[in-house]
Amino acid sequence: MKKPMMYALLLGGFIALQSCGGSTETKTEAPAATAVAKTETAPVQEEPFAAGKKIYMEKCIVCHQANGQGISGAFPSLAGSEFLLTNKVGAIAQTLNGAPGGSTIKGVKYSAPMPFQVDTKEDAVAVINFVLNSFGNKGGTVTLDDAKDIVINPRP
Ligand code: HEC
Repeated sequence: MKKPMMYALLLGGFIALQSCGGSTETKTEAPAATAVAKTETAPVQEEPFAAGKKIYMEKCIVCHQANGQGISGAFPSLAGSEFLLTNKVGAIAQTLNGAPGGSTIKGVKYSAPMPFQVDTKEDAVAVINFVLNSFGNKGGTVTLDDAKDIVINPRP
């Protein structure tokens, strides 16, 4: 017998049993139905920040590396990055518009600019949420609303 069919029969039987018991028992129907639904959908659940991870793997990884540590003196680490963790809106903007280079981070100078990486605020928010919660970072999350005042104007 096919699985969904079996669940339907089980659930049907359950509801039938419950309905004999009077009005108080019928309240248990809803949780029973939810439990069945959860079992069915659990295996296809996506990992959190999957969209941002995809963008990171396509764009950021070449410079900031798979472990987010970057390469000292060339590409700064995103793991524990003070800028990222304290200026989340700035990090979204940098992903959209790039950065001129010349920052000194933890005593190391980064002379090269960062080219802009994404075209939409949706993508920028997604990838920043991924880096805020990867490489040991526990930086919370940003929303599209946080990005509402950013003007998209990528550095040439
Ligand atoms: C071509 C190499 C390159 C790519 C690709 C790149 N970056 Fe960068 N990134 C840099 C450089 C260089 C800097 C330092 C820029 C500066 O000093 O102004 C930087 C800085 C940063 C910073 C600030 C770090 C700090 O502590 O100040 C963040 C956040 C960041 N990048 C996020 C990203 C994200 C997210 C992506 C992918 C969407 C990305 N970068 C792709 C080169 C790159």
